[in-house]
Amino acid sequence: MTAAGSRVIIGAGLDRVDAPLKVTGGAQYPNDFDYPGMVHAALVRSTVAVGRILAIDAAEARAAAGVLAVITFENAMRLSRGPMTLLGPSPPAPLQNDRILHYGQHIAVVVAATAEQARHAASLVRVRYEDVEALLDIDDPAAPVVENPWRLDTERGDVAAGFAAADVVIDNTYTTPDNTNNPLGLMATVAIWHGDALTVHDSTQWPHNVRTSLATIFNVPESGIRVLAPYVGGAFGAGLRVWPHVILAVLAAREVQRPVKLVLTRPEMFTSVGHRPESVQRLKLGATRAGDLVAVQHEAVSTVAMDDDDYEPVSQCSAVSYACPNTRTRDRQVRLNIPCPGSMRGPAEGQGNFALESAIDELAHELAMDPLELRLRNFAAEHPVSGLPWSSNALRECYTRGAERFGWSRRGPEPGSMRDGHRLVGYGLAGVSYPGYQVPCQARASLNRDGSAFVRSAATDIGTGTYTVMTQLAAELLGLDTGRVRFDLGDSDMPYSPQAGGSGLTGALGNAVHVACRRLVREFLDLVADDAASPLRGARLDEVEVSDGRIHRAGAVGRGESYVDILARHGLEELGADGRSTPPLPEELGMAIAGAFGAKFVEVRIDPDLGLLRVARVVSVIDGGRILNEKTATSQIIGGTVGGIGQALFEDTVTDSGTGRIANATFGDYLVPVNADVPDMEVVFVGEPDRATPVGTKGVGEIGLVGMAAAIANAVHHATGRRVRSLPITIDQLM
Ligand code: MOS
Repeated sequence: MTAAGSRVIIGAGLDRVDAPLKVTGGAQYPNDFDYPGMVHAALVRSTVAVGRILAIDAAEARAAAGVLAVITFENAMRLSRGPMTLLGPSPPAPLQNDRILHYGQHIAVVVAATAEQARHAASLVRVRYEDVEALLDIDDPAAPVVENPWRLDTERGDVAAGFAAADVVIDNTYTTPDNTNNPLGLMATVAIWHGDALTVHDSTQWPHNVRTSLATIFNVPESGIRVLAPYVGGAFGAGLRVWPHVILAVLAAREVQRPVKLVLTRPEMFTSVGHRPESVQRLKLGATRAGDLVAVQHEAVSTVAMDDDDYEPVSQCSAVSYACPNTRTRDRQVRLNIPCPGSMRGPAEGQGNFALESAIDELAHELAMDPLELRLRNFAAEHPVSGLPWSSNALRECYTRGAERFGWSRRGPEPGSMRDGHRLVGYGLAGVSYPGYQVPCQARASLNRDGSAFVRSAATDIGTGTYTVMTQLAAELLGLDTGRVRFDLGDSDMPYSPQAGGSGLTGALGNAVHVACRRLVREFLDLVADDAASPLRGARLDEVEVSDGRIHRAGAVGRGESYVDILARHGLEELGADGRSTPPLPEELGMAIAGAFGAKFVEVRIDPDLGLLRVARVVSVIDGGRILNEKTATSQIIGGTVGGIGQALFEDTVTDSGTGRIANATFGDYLVPVNADVPDMEVVFVGEPDRATPVGTKGVGEIGLVGMAAAIANAVHHATGRRVRSLPITIDQLM
């Protein structure tokens, strides 16, 4: 079955189908929901990083105007810890004991008639703490260390022999700081109990996980819980987990038996919903004089909370990015008294790629070789670990097309050799090999008597364009105009969807929608299998095409029969079908499942007297497999590129070394790129539909960010001769 229509649907830059609702205020985000009798919750957070609560005096708060309840560990109901998830363990349930393990830990929730009353009363809760010294430094020898936390450490060949045989060895340490996701939308939860049944509006990237987790935590049937997230104001990974504040909103609603709304404040966002953890990475490369890599060793240390976990395999990129016979990658996590880190756009890859791609640039400089040539020379034609052919890989084309578009050949080889008047000019490059990731997903498609289709799955659209691309995909698969297709998501009553994360949703969901739509067409064929009145009688799925709302034999556009006619003759209002995607398996396919590949070309301009650095140009060339929508995919890369400029030049979550307090937890103090920091950005897509799945997409949600930090740092070296191995790159490092 293929679509025979002449219209181009897949790939076309269709405007976002949800745009009118978003710009007219019709799209309701979690904190837009109000219910009769709804009251408001505010959080009290620990002002120390470790210790015990010796006393909580909530008398004044309880007596304050409008207050309905103050819930602390002393009077909170017992809660279970949430379940093990695809992404690891759930966070510990809050308010279960007197222990403090990080600054900002939620130690009480206040419920009052208005948000202002709740916040005021929260400020009246007095807490006395035991005084204990916190572990806050990644280098603290007293901090517990987790070796190989994800069992992903790799070793192939003989690394020691590789370095011994190398003509050139470079060995350096790179550091990246804590970064905070900071989606624009403050994360919010609205909870309404009806007996043991529960409705929750939540800023989540994964409604089903919220449902399953809350059922376990509150020991109520999962069937009574409905989680709604049709619109989420961004997330960047901050909405992947059922964080303690979500649990507290639900707990508060149970306690006061009223609908409760909890909206995090911006400072609370810095300690409540994860962050990209700092890293210290030692990267050692060995190569022959001719530029063949003979040894790669990447040892990464990052931080994690005392009692919670985060999946962040920082060194992984070095095992899979280049063809090299001898490779060792090692990860370790240091447990500190910090809020738990969590995935932040391009988790692990963003940090690891900075070290790897900076080191490759250093090696090229040492070899007096063009860094583009060095990368091409060590291109991994097969998957370096499994030795299997890639399901798709256009990384070489990313480099060559990018070099052409960017004008890489104009780059003078010597650092400091290019100028524009007073300003130093630098060209920098980084390559990216993003991991492929796909998990099972389900969707349902139905066709209605009026000729429209309704397709749905409990996925989320965190601003990425899921509504739009799935509308396009279903329209193509059913042979309908996009205007005749409604795609809906963000409701845990819909078929199961995994998280919008890991750049995996478009693939997982797209393949589920693909299966559902094909099954739906087959349902129609089954209906007319013995139908003497149908020109499609006896037709098999592989013999037909769909276009203009009709099913017809291959090539016979305008013939066959319309969905509407078939439904009418059989007296049906609608016909539906379920689809389930299964992740592609390398063993079965004999291929390594590829993620996206990319190359980032960056030009910087630096004022040598003031240390002022401007990113002047960025060319991103991405192999994202089949691109469902050129416009939304381009927007993903642009947004990621801006995030990468943030990681490279601005973002730095500062923890006070004595108290563990986040010192810059506001948009005034936590710097992100503004329009003046963002240059012209060109995005080019290359490559072919990936062979591992029927739809052929590879995720493009995160690859836009990865590579920017190294490309900028490499451009800085080219402009100035200064190697900056520590992010963010600030003026003082350039003076
Ligand atoms: Mo993404 S950091 O997997 O939401």
